[in-house]
Amino acid sequence: MTTTTPSSVGSGLDRVEGLDKVTGRARYAFEYSPRDLAYAVPVQAVVARGEIHAVDVDAVLKCPGVIAAIWYGNAPRLASDDGGELAVLQSPRVAYRGQYIGVVVAETLHDAREAAGLVRVEYAAERHDVELRADHPGLYRPEVVNPDFPADVEQGDPDAALAAAPIVVDAVYSTPAEHNNPMEPHATVAAWDGDGLTLHDSNQGASAVRDTVAALFGMPPANVRVISPHVGGGFGSKGLPHPHVVLAALAAKQVGRPVKLAVTRQQMFAVTGYRTPTIQRVRLGADAGGRLTAIVHEAFEQSSTVKEFAEQTTVPTRMMYAAPARRTTHRLVRLDVPTPSWMRAPGETPGMFALESAMDELAIACGLDPVELRIRNEPETDPESGLPFSSRNLVACLREGARRFGWAGRDPAPGVRRRGRLLVGTGVAASTYPVYRRPSQAGARAEPDGRFTVRIAAADIGTGARTVLTQIAADALRAPVDRVRVEIGDSALPTASLAGGSMGTASWGTAVVRACEALLEELDRRGGDLPVGGVEAGADTTEEIRGQRRFARHAFGAQFAEVGVDVDTGETRVLRLLGVFAAGRIVNPKTARSQLVGGMTMGVSMALLEESVMDREFGDYLNHDLAQYHVAACADVRDIEALWVEEDDPHLNPMGSKGIGEIGIVGTAAAIANAVHHATGVRIRDLPIRLDKLV
Ligand code: MOS
Repeated sequence: MTTTTPSSVGSGLDRVEGLDKVTGRARYAFEYSPRDLAYAVPVQAVVARGEIHAVDVDAVLKCPGVIAAIWYGNAPRLASDDGGELAVLQSPRVAYRGQYIGVVVAETLHDAREAAGLVRVEYAAERHDVELRADHPGLYRPEVVNPDFPADVEQGDPDAALAAAPIVVDAVYSTPAEHNNPMEPHATVAAWDGDGLTLHDSNQGASAVRDTVAALFGMPPANVRVISPHVGGGFGSKGLPHPHVVLAALAAKQVGRPVKLAVTRQQMFAVTGYRTPTIQRVRLGADAGGRLTAIVHEAFEQSSTVKEFAEQTTVPTRMMYAAPARRTTHRLVRLDVPTPSWMRAPGETPGMFALESAMDELAIACGLDPVELRIRNEPETDPESGLPFSSRNLVACLREGARRFGWAGRDPAPGVRRRGRLLVGTGVAASTYPVYRRPSQAGARAEPDGRFTVRIAAADIGTGARTVLTQIAADALRAPVDRVRVEIGDSALPTASLAGGSMGTASWGTAVVRACEALLEELDRRGGDLPVGGVEAGADTTEEIRGQRRFARHAFGAQFAEVGVDVDTGETRVLRLLGVFAAGRIVNPKTARSQLVGGMTMGVSMALLEESVMDREFGDYLNHDLAQYHVAACADVRDIEALWVEEDDPHLNPMGSKGIGEIGIVGTAAAIANAVHHATGVRIRDLPIRLDKLV
């Protein structure tokens, strides 16, 4: 059964579904049209806080093609709610502008859209509060921050250490609300068959959607099937189901027909999550040699009135640098806004913007090179827990990056390099992302024709997950990749963890390796005697992951940026961006580079463009389409490269890999802001770096 083949892990295998994607054969959630399909268009609240008194649907029901108009007054009751935002149409309360307060179902999308515009709603509007401020009277300390870190951590006496420090940086940084904009907007096609529910849905984990939806409708999980073979991006916004999934299922139940609901790009700005804005005060104390004596990092963030979402903004600061005295805190305020959610490297992204900007300010205050400053503050072990790092190669990334980028001999003086109309400067920042792994199950099957099928409810959101799992399985089976087929994206497959937290490859890969090993053992035992139906084996990694040794496990990186700022217009262009990462073994250099460069591109976007602007009067993010919410386009990407250093870490998983989906964005904005300071002498502490802040 088995042959000796060269290792597939480490090779740049093309995406196994690449041809399907470019020829249109790969189908996305919206493209499934079961028989007897109806279309749903949601109705959204136009007040930010209040109560619905009456809904008039008379005109709607007279419209051609309309099948139903559903709102709180006539919606089926859910079996349970999730403590908030998924309890769609279960209460007359309005908690944020844009919230779903009804849905119109019709024969065609056009009929539904036209009729939805005719729903008349009477509200008792209440005064709303949508503004995050560091002195907001409603600020409180959450019990924990995501996923389960203490909100505040204090070691030593940071106040005394700051008072005694010869060099102190004390600055406030802020980042705006930002909205995830995957290419494929969210969509769900819901079809009931008796007590069974099938969802074609765009998400980052079919098993999680199944479990959540089953609980809401009071069904056993086995009665819900979620099918999601191809997903056009998520960046966290498809990590857990948003209210439209429930709305589609509820509408389909009410009308007794399959229902298709596509969230529009404009609607996404209210109903599919976003990154909380942050205000962060960072205080660093150091001796004359730049050795940190104190780090204090305090974050202020928002959540909604329906659900607590506590971004872990200052958590990376707990393990980045050695300092005997440290305090990291989080304060939240519940505003009349949509609930923030995950957006690529939630926590690390805004948190490291502040910390790594402050480190640049400290380097200048100490008269030290910013690369050298970071090397001097490299901890031996995790400063917070005292645990050893499973591997930590930040210094190697900084050194290799400096060499490749041409950092040596950099003149630290700001505002003195002129190239034509541009003031030019360079900046550096560190990057990091934690290494997680979650239990998953997988099945592996030897087919009678000598091929293998591997099954796991993993999600490929454009990352290349299907491809790397094929490589991992092929190596575990000692078979060539073209004899291995990996089936993913269906909750009917063995239960798997999310495509989130950069832990997909580690979590699913472990389960796939164990299932393949079990299959080889089974084949061995049978001595080549393969029954007609083939042989199957399965694995569950719950015990293995629970039993793993405790280490501080993190990936690291160094981001180097060169910017040019137009002296007349203040326009900033990123001329060069180089990221060097230490992320364990790289399973597929082609898809890995794509993830890292993609993350860095999103970092350019964050540094220069992305900003959701809250309209205080109406309580709404007012720039809610891609014409007004700007994201980096091809013209913004001049010269972006991602490299990695060799890292052999035996304490991770059978592949020796660390996650790479998110680390690319971390630190990018700080490297760019630091380069802008070097170019112009102007320190931008509030993102994005708009031209009006520079002229
Ligand atoms: Mo990622 S924001 O954990 O999907």
